[in-house]
Amino acid sequence: MIPLILSGGSGSRLWPLSRKLYPKQFLALTGSETLFQQTLGRLAIEGISKPIVVCNEEHRFIVSEQLAAIGGEAQTILLEPFGRNTAPAVAIAAMHLLAAGRDELILVLPADHVIEDLPVFHSALGVARKAAEQGEMVLFGIPAERPETGYGYIRTGERSGLPGGVLSVEQFVEKPDLATASEFVAQGDYVWNSGMFLFRCSRYLEELQRHDQDIYDTCQLALSRSKSDLQFIRIDPSSFECCPDNSIDYAVMEKTDRACVVPLAAGWNDVGSWSALWDVQDKDDQGNSCSGDVVIHDSQDCLAHSQSKLVTLVGLKDVVVVETKDAVMVAHKDRVQDVKHLVNTLTCEG
Ligand code: GDD
Ligand code: MG
Repeated sequence: MIPLILSGGSGSRLWPLSRKLYPKQFLALTGSETLFQQTLGRLAIEGISKPIVVCNEEHRFIVSEQLAAIGGEAQTILLEPFGRNTAPAVAIAAMHLLAAGRDELILVLPADHVIEDLPVFHSALGVARKAAEQGEMVLFGIPAERPETGYGYIRTGERSGLPGGVLSVEQFVEKPDLATASEFVAQGDYVWNSGMFLFRCSRYLEELQRHDQDIYDTCQLALSRSKSDLQFIRIDPSSFECCPDNSIDYAVMEKTDRACVVPLAAGWNDVGSWSALWDVQDKDDQGNSCSGDVVIHDSQDCLAHSQSKLVTLVGLKDVVVVETKDAVMVAHKDRVQDVKHLVNTLTCEG
């Protein structure tokens, strides 16, 4: 089993702390290690090889340094000249392994998640492995607690032939609107897609070819023209540029009939927004999570972060205030998903 660490996201919903040149997976948001390092640290289990990392070429030194700092080593670091989302990132890694005659199981792991209960995670991996060895595409299902629109939803069911503890995927809906997400949560037989997957390289590539031939073909070409540079493989920019931008969820998981799901209740959090970060951070008795030079009076359930100035809050509830050297962001905790729109506006105007 080979871990494939997806580290190419921009983390725009955690702006202004997460930046294009230093996105959230490389920040220490929930302890002394970065999210990327914590992801690697979770893999100290038997029968698992050194990871493959897929990241943007701008981040190659951050990746190398953060690996070295924890005594880790990657077998390969695939460098994307620009992001084309997760379906191509996984395809190139799977094609790279197949070309080396290694049709092994790949464990796709986003580099920016928190998992609190490691024994539960490891035992879910053991169950998932049995199903993946039978040729299944395995997803990990998180109890759907609220109608979150940033996640994939999986309707689970039963199918004969699956190993114990594994459910079938009856339906997969990526990022539904709020009304649909609310219906799914009320129905009770839906779980959230964790964004982690386990499958054999050839199984993923067969499904990708069936459902998105374009991504398959452009990734083949981009990999065949890529250049090796020490432990790095630089994906050819001119062929990769033509690759459609799509996630594994839309391109494959919504369409395949070869998927199953292992339930996972292990304190998972994707730190996808300021409110998700607030969820996992230590809080005072009023529910405020503060870091840096912050003074709070008569406020509840706020998140306040200061990097260079004193930040003070009075009489607020459910507010996020993040101060960095060059920007201050203030948002209601219910609207933090919209920070990505703010970043889009700034990028267009910049
Ligand atoms: N190498 C590479 N290249 N990595 C990428 C790229 C890319 O172009 N785009 C995103 N990633 C990485 C991100 O850094 C992250 O670790 C992971 O792939 C998933 O991408 P996100 O952009 O964070 O996806 P999402 O959160 O919107 O949705 C996914 O995760 C949810 C759970 O957190 C989906 O799988 C949902 O179905 C799922 O519920
Ligand atoms: Mg995410």
